[in-house]
Amino acid sequence: MPVPAIEIIDNPSVAHNDGDSRNATRVKVSVVGAGGGIGQSLSLLLKVNLNNLLANDPSANASIELSLFDVNLENLKGVTADLSHINNKIRLQVTDNLAENVKDSNLIIIAAGVPRKPGMTRDDLFNINAGIIKNIATDINNANACNSQNSGNSSFILLISNPLNSLLPVLQNSLNENWIGKCFGITELDLVRASTFLEPLLQSNSGNNAEMPYIPVIGGHSGDTILPVFSQITANNFTSSLYDLVRGPDSQIIRKLINRVQYGGDEIVEAKNGKGSATLSMAYSAYRIAEQFTALLLNQVKTVESILYTTIVGKDFETPLSTVEGAAELHDQYLERRLKFFATACTVEKLSGLTKIDNKIIGNLNAFEKDNLLPTCIDSLQINIEKGLSF
Ligand SMILES: NC(=O)c1ccc[n+]([C@@H]2O[C@H](COP(=O)([O-])OP(=O)(O)OC[C@H]3O[C@@H](n4cnc5c(N)ncnc54)[C@H](O)[C@@H]3O)[C@@H](O)[C@H]2O)c1
Repeated sequence: MPVPAIEIIDNPSVAHNDGDSRNATRVKVSVVGAGGGIGQSLSLLLKVNLNNLLANDPSANASIELSLFDVNLENLKGVTADLSHINNKIRLQVTDNLAENVKDSNLIIIAAGVPRKPGMTRDDLFNINAGIIKNIATDINNANACNSQNSGNSSFILLISNPLNSLLPVLQNSLNENWIGKCFGITELDLVRASTFLEPLLQSNSGNNAEMPYIPVIGGHSGDTILPVFSQITANNFTSSLYDLVRGPDSQIIRKLINRVQYGGDEIVEAKNGKGSATLSMAYSAYRIAEQFTALLLNQVKTVESILYTTIVGKDFETPLSTVEGAAELHDQYLERRLKFFATACTVEKLSGLTKIDNKIIGNLNAFEKDNLLPTCIDSLQINIEKGLSF
């Protein structure tokens, strides 16, 4: 039997996250770049795992619509046909029109762009991907009607595309001001890598193997802008410093670990030998964040609490966000008033967006992290951010 062709829906039904609790909560999740390496794997994770959120939803009538878009229509149709055979309640929508894809969406995840090739840094990607992101922002500005507090609806954007340090500034600068505090870069892969790379070492030191360690990673998302805070690990029900375990900040073990987290992406670029960068581990990392936002949109949690790359200033890109607790302290006290974006511990609420920045991590850096890693991070990240803002 011939395989039925997937039809591109010209005028798909639109999901609303209705603020009125008498009505059903409908959440629309859009993936831009769904035909790519990350987009395909992420779409699979969303299709399969978000169904668990629905299954556990206390209200019997919540629904999730997964809307996929890519400029590569062949890949888009193939991915959608494939995913459509998975038997669960997540509704799939496919469109060849970006404006339709993002229209009334509650969670827009952007994985569109060109990935790194061997020898390329993330910054080499800048010009191509910045143009793509700017165009996407224009469509979001034109099409997305539900991102205002007055509407009772809520929308968020999660950005994956690299160079993230510069592209979030491009995106935020191109979007209208409703999106301040609603638009975040995903740096979760750095936390996932830190945990993965540290775990064998912890086992040999402590013998504990019950759970994976958690290491906060703050700053940016490339090379020396990535600041893994190994002095603040949490693992196996104790909070400890890796520095205590391996005796001092000069330890080669610490230096190697930090370097591996900062440049871990290169291992994958080289292993794939010209065929792209991290896709599977990135999709996994992006899903971890996307799931938290979907739970927030479904009213299953009151806040998202995560490390996210975010703007800490208003639309003038000068004044720290006065409505966000901790933003002025971070900007003025810890970042020498030089950085307008930073990956840090954020609290996000459904209607207000970013409401709080917790400065405990940066406030408790040890001497090595504070005197060596942070100044380098600030120097490089400032250049990346200004490059994005001046695009
Ligand atoms: N944040 C992170 O930790 C992280 C990790 C790895 C990769 N990345 C980045 O994620 C991006 C995607 O990587 P990938 O490996 O999936 O690349 P890919 O080339 O496999 O996929 C990118 C997809 O984007 C699509 N695309 C291009 N322009 C578009 C547009 N204007 N609208 C919609 N779709 C468009 C392409 O057709 C393609 O399908 C790259 O920029 C990469 O550097 C980020």
